[in-house]
Amino acid sequence: MLFLLNRLPFFRHPMLRSKSMPHVTRDKFALAVEAGPEGQVLDVERITAALREAGARTIEILDQPAALGPISPRFLLRTTVGIGVVCLVTGYLTYWSMKLFPVTIPMVHMLDQPRLDPQRQYSYFKDDFGMRMPVAGTVARGHMPYTIKTEDEASVLANPLPRTESVLKQGRQGFTTYCSACHGILGNGVSTLTAAYGAKPANLVADNVREYPDGRIYHVIVMGKNAMPSYAAELTEDERWAVVHHVRVLQRAMNARDTDIPKEIPR
Ligand code: HEC
Repeated sequence: MLFLLNRLPFFRHPMLRSKSMPHVTRDKFALAVEAGPEGQVLDVERITAALREAGARTIEILDQPAALGPISPRFLLRTTVGIGVVCLVTGYLTYWSMKLFPVTIPMVHMLDQPRLDPQRQYSYFKDDFGMRMPVAGTVARGHMPYTIKTEDEASVLANPLPRTESVLKQGRQGFTTYCSACHGILGNGVSTLTAAYGAKPANLVADNVREYPDGRIYHVIVMGKNAMPSYAAELTEDERWAVVHHVRVLQRAMNARDTDIPKEIPR
């Protein structure tokens, strides 16, 4: 459509040769007064006078652009062949850059290397497998191994997170998502589970848990306890410590004393 109907690219418009044109893209503006359809004559003198009076810097009189005639067979042929050639050339260049260039030297050197594809048979090792187990003691990035075995040993762990607003919010979110179904939204062991669960979730705001050090609560989250599964996979290290903070918040809130009430209640 652009080539055949609009005859683009069209570089022959007389306006483009006007001396004022460079300024139009820079620091001036132009006003074009066009003659109407073929045969209409403009009163050039009156228009010039009016423009000058209005403060025009330059006034140019340009030819009317040649009217576009009907499409000639030659133009049609030339345009079609041109489009065809452009398609073929860009098509081949695309093919070359995607399929052929990557396998020419030196690009090919990266492909051509003695390597072992996963899941492949490989007779170099005794068991004929290409895949190897990681070296004993290998630690995956971002996964600190947790080696503590008992709640007592965990008691020495200190909560590394400060009690900031965002940490406490994170803790509440983690607790609500992963713990509240069993321990209740207030942590008091009043759960939404039916008796079919078969175990009694602990009351986390009771005196015995209030006396647990942080590390011990953390340990239960990581390792689980009897009927309680581990939540290590669901919560990152930081999220677990944030949940521990939230357990403390619940313990404080559920065991509020008279002295927790401010003497002067702000109005
Ligand atoms: C599927 C239900 C369930 C979920 C979810 C659950 N717990 Fe438990 N939790 C239990 C049960 C049941 C016990 C009691 C285990 C026992 O002592 O036999 C328990 C025990 C505990 C204890 C030890 C209490 C004590 O007296 O020693 C702590 C601390 C604890 N849960 C914290 C959490 C936290 C924090 C979460 C969320 C990350 C959580 N639990 C999620 C069921 C659950």
